[in-house]
Amino acid sequence: MFNSLIDKLRKNQILSYDEYLLLIKNRDKCADYLFKNASEVRESIYGNKIYIRGLIEFTNYCKNNCYYCGIRRDNKCTDRYRLSPDEIIGCADYGYELGFRTFVLQGGEDPYYTDDILCDIVRKLKENHPDCAVTLSLGERSFDSYKALKDAGADRYLLRHETSDSGHYGKLHPDDMSFQNRLDCLENLKKLGYHVGAGFMVGSPFQTEENLANELLFLKKLNPHMVGIGPFIAHKDTPFFDQPSGTAELTLFMLGLIRLTLPNILLPATTALGTIDPLGREKGIRAGANVVMPNLSPLNVRKKYMLYDNKICTGDEAAQCIECLKRRIATTGCEIEISRGDYRQSKPNC
Ligand code: 5AD
Ligand code: FES
Repeated sequence: MFNSLIDKLRKNQILSYDEYLLLIKNRDKCADYLFKNASEVRESIYGNKIYIRGLIEFTNYCKNNCYYCGIRRDNKCTDRYRLSPDEIIGCADYGYELGFRTFVLQGGEDPYYTDDILCDIVRKLKENHPDCAVTLSLGERSFDSYKALKDAGADRYLLRHETSDSGHYGKLHPDDMSFQNRLDCLENLKKLGYHVGAGFMVGSPFQTEENLANELLFLKKLNPHMVGIGPFIAHKDTPFFDQPSGTAELTLFMLGLIRLTLPNILLPATTALGTIDPLGREKGIRAGANVVMPNLSPLNVRKKYMLYDNKICTGDEAAQCIECLKRRIATTGCEIEISRGDYRQSKPNC
């Protein structure tokens, strides 16, 4: 019964809300079958290759106050930092030597970094490494700002929608943040020709299984190139300090469903998944993920970019992280590929 719904997804047929919900509610009965199918689909499109992205967390200043996030404006315990353009370029140059061909510039929403400053950084990165992709993850900005950054050479943009239910969005964010604006940003990014990543936390406060079924319908419709999901993990200095964390088990099941719903998706096994479960990233790959995003930020700022408690890999050099990941990924039968790792469009069935 549940396996036949998975077969349906595997054949690229659309599942209804009720069918997704049924699967999510009965995940203990069909998780292994889902993971087997999800890995086969990933393998058929991307082989056994896992793509790496060098994450540069360049500012932990943020003008927003999301209730779940450790670098929210009102967290006075956060030791704030900004990397200079030269430091950012330095991280990328070091990353290039290690084999990274995609750099992800991620930060809080920090008005200090104007379009001019950011465009200069993007241009410089592309000039130094024309064979690399630049991904931005800078939150909500205006159409004109997204356009300027695209014109400067940015290729991709990650902006998690966090939830596709506006009521739920309102419970995770203060009133000065708008769900509609988040959707408009995603639309604008698509219009501008970015490869776009959306995503959400699994087990975020007030999230229901019904919400998760809707996430899959939302993603199917949005049809992004990338989807980032990881478990919610409480941060001690946020309003959600005492909320239970999401589970690896449910996150893995959602990864499998996302792989089958959007077969060509670039899907990271996230650091949050590796934090909630020591083997979380390996399990993520077995559930259908095909991307990992090690940290390239300088060691002295790593511990300051704490979105949630107990984040892993904050004490290791990027070179050590890569060696560790290589070993971990080998246990799944996959291997890291040194390339930009672009989205693969399936050939049409003719
Ligand atoms: N637990 C897990 N993920 C979090 N994020 C922010 N705070 C947390 C948390 N406490 C995620 C959000 C955001 C991304 C950069 O990190 O989904 O979009
Ligand atoms: Fe910075 Fe949410 S706290 S965007």
